[in-house]
Amino acid sequence: MISFDRTTRTFHLQGKSYSYVMRVNGSGYLEHLYFGARVGEDDLSYLNAPCFLSFSPLPPDAEDPAFSLDHTPQEYGCFGQGDFRAPAVLLRREDGFAASRFRYRSHTVGGQKWESDLPHARGGETLTVVLEDALSPAEIRLFYTVYDDSDVLVRSAEIVNRGSAPIKAERAYSFSLDLPAGEYEALRLHGRHLAERIPERTDLGHGALKICSMRGASSHQMNPFLALLARGATETDGECYAFELLYSGSFTLEAEQSQTDTVRVQGGIDDTGFCWTLGAGEKFVTPQAAIAYSGGGLGALSRSLHDFLRNYVLPAGEVFARRPIVINQWEATYFDFDREKLIALIEEAAPLGIDTFVLDDGWFGKRDSDTSGLGDWTVNTHKLEGGLAPVIAACKAHGMKFGIWFEPEMVSEDSDLYRAHPDWAIGKSDVPRCTSRNQFVLDFTRPEVTESVFGAMERILSENDISYVKWDMNRHITEFFSAALPADRMGEFAHRYILGVYALAARLQRRFPDVFFEGCSGGGGRFDAGMLAFFPQIWTSDDTDAAERAKIEWATSYAYPMSAMSCHVSACPNHQTGRTTPFATRGLLASLGPTGYELDLSTLSAEEKAGVKEQIAAYREIEELLLRGDLYRLADPFGKDVFAEMVVSKDKTRAYAVGMRMRAVPADFNRRIRLQGLDENRAYHVRELGLTLHGSTLMRAGLLLPRLGEYDGWSWHIEAVPLPS
Ligand code: GLA
Repeated sequence: MISFDRTTRTFHLQGKSYSYVMRVNGSGYLEHLYFGARVGEDDLSYLNAPCFLSFSPLPPDAEDPAFSLDHTPQEYGCFGQGDFRAPAVLLRREDGFAASRFRYRSHTVGGQKWESDLPHARGGETLTVVLEDALSPAEIRLFYTVYDDSDVLVRSAEIVNRGSAPIKAERAYSFSLDLPAGEYEALRLHGRHLAERIPERTDLGHGALKICSMRGASSHQMNPFLALLARGATETDGECYAFELLYSGSFTLEAEQSQTDTVRVQGGIDDTGFCWTLGAGEKFVTPQAAIAYSGGGLGALSRSLHDFLRNYVLPAGEVFARRPIVINQWEATYFDFDREKLIALIEEAAPLGIDTFVLDDGWFGKRDSDTSGLGDWTVNTHKLEGGLAPVIAACKAHGMKFGIWFEPEMVSEDSDLYRAHPDWAIGKSDVPRCTSRNQFVLDFTRPEVTESVFGAMERILSENDISYVKWDMNRHITEFFSAALPADRMGEFAHRYILGVYALAARLQRRFPDVFFEGCSGGGGRFDAGMLAFFPQIWTSDDTDAAERAKIEWATSYAYPMSAMSCHVSACPNHQTGRTTPFATRGLLASLGPTGYELDLSTLSAEEKAGVKEQIAAYREIEELLLRGDLYRLADPFGKDVFAEMVVSKDKTRAYAVGMRMRAVPADFNRRIRLQGLDENRAYHVRELGLTLHGSTLMRAGLLLPRLGEYDGWSWHIEAVPLPS
């Protein structure tokens, strides 16, 4: 709900349980007043009493001599007007002047028409506040979208040049707001390839805490997610805020504690090397940011984000649909396969209940290793005699579907595509380029490049019966340069690149609406809410080790729903860590996301093959819970001995818990795990334990931690039953 009080010029925005309040102050600036648990629609202007502070400049148009933008909480801070905190926007005019003084002009309430290739959230009610600059012909529109059933607020901005001379946007963040003075901790998800999304929680001191990627991709190294927590907040208690970008390119999120202890949090496109020229009448649209509030700890914060992403961002037709259960050939053969090997794998997979065969890297061009072939999307008939047809026929004969891998954004130096179009690779022809995995990135800012990739993919997808595409991306951008962009527009390159990626993904999905697209970037290198608008699931990590996956799945769930985390059972010793974990545990960890297999099935024992059948049946039994349920994190695997999570149906009649011993500990008898999310007044039956207990008992007294060995896992299937009389 959005309301505006004309007398106090106050906006009250309400989501499911939060209020977000701002006002137009006497000097015409948009002032942030409150964001937190629901409050009355009162005049909250008393919360920002003007107070004189030396060295805080007085703007020439200030109504009060104690007013300064330097310590006034704002909605979108600007440069050069007396606010010395980091600005959300920096606009430079032709004469080099870059100060702005944006004040309220008007507002409207209604649906938002989205006119960009950027991913965006559907639905909701949108407030548009128009600000105009007293010092230039620039206009900013701030968008705020609220949902009655969600504790997520969506923000973005649009900058319009109303003048005739060009304006350069050297920074254009998606959102900014100033939280009141307090003691906050910051939680971010850093990492690296094979170890994505490691949570790190630190006190927020003075100065700016900045997390970012300058890699042209959201990256394994830092996820575009930042949470601010009231110091000491836990999974179940405390105020928490999350800021998550619907963006997959270079980004920044920053939290700056000011001289008066307030915290400016803001972010959007990373401004390193960024500069967007707005010609006369042109506008620039920023990516959207999802901003969540929870008064009940991190668990509730995550559940709000999960519901929001599932209901309003992930592809509507697929987000709640049953997922394919795949056998992916990558870890089974790597590049070393031929038609017979693939058909043998299909024949092994079908009787086990696996329904989709995915042909990964190596099927095209001259691709026997990662040194060549990318960009040549024609079938390698030396490896696959007769092309894809015999493999697809084998799938069909066994009642299975066929999926295929592409890395659309890349080109190998040793490829026909590169030989024909060396200038299509990002970089400068007279400057030797960095390689990474022996490949270059294609210049997706150029329509002829994306057109050619579209044509090649369209050919493969239309000539063959393909139900699934895995879209990979295995390096980051270095020499940011396009031979097709004018020199004074090169600062637009990185953003234009990702717009090209989004446009191609959208076009392919429109052209092939029945194909299921999974995202991937060396595993979870682009696991972000922007990609999730196109890909209902993403390959969570190239690390398939169960113990590592426990951590990755746990931390990924801070920001993203489990139904988006593609999880496979792989071979042991694990190819990434060398660790051996029980087959059953690998199945349990892979049941916490759309499941699949990624190993040579012919090496499995009869017992393990029976295990696969059981795992698939068990997965199908809980799939609905996984797609729609509420996730509760019970035992944190980071540095601890145990991992445990549970998912509960919305009506609280069913739940599924999975746990794993991360480390064997001698004689730790009778340790308890408290369940969460159940109805305390109902009775529940725990299938594996044969116990029937009240929800209150399960949540307060808990269950005993099973006495298992290192890396052993367990599950509890929990079902509401009539109360014992
Ligand atoms: C990336 C992906 C893997 C696999 C390989 C193929 O690393 O994450 O799953 O597809 O590429 O080269």
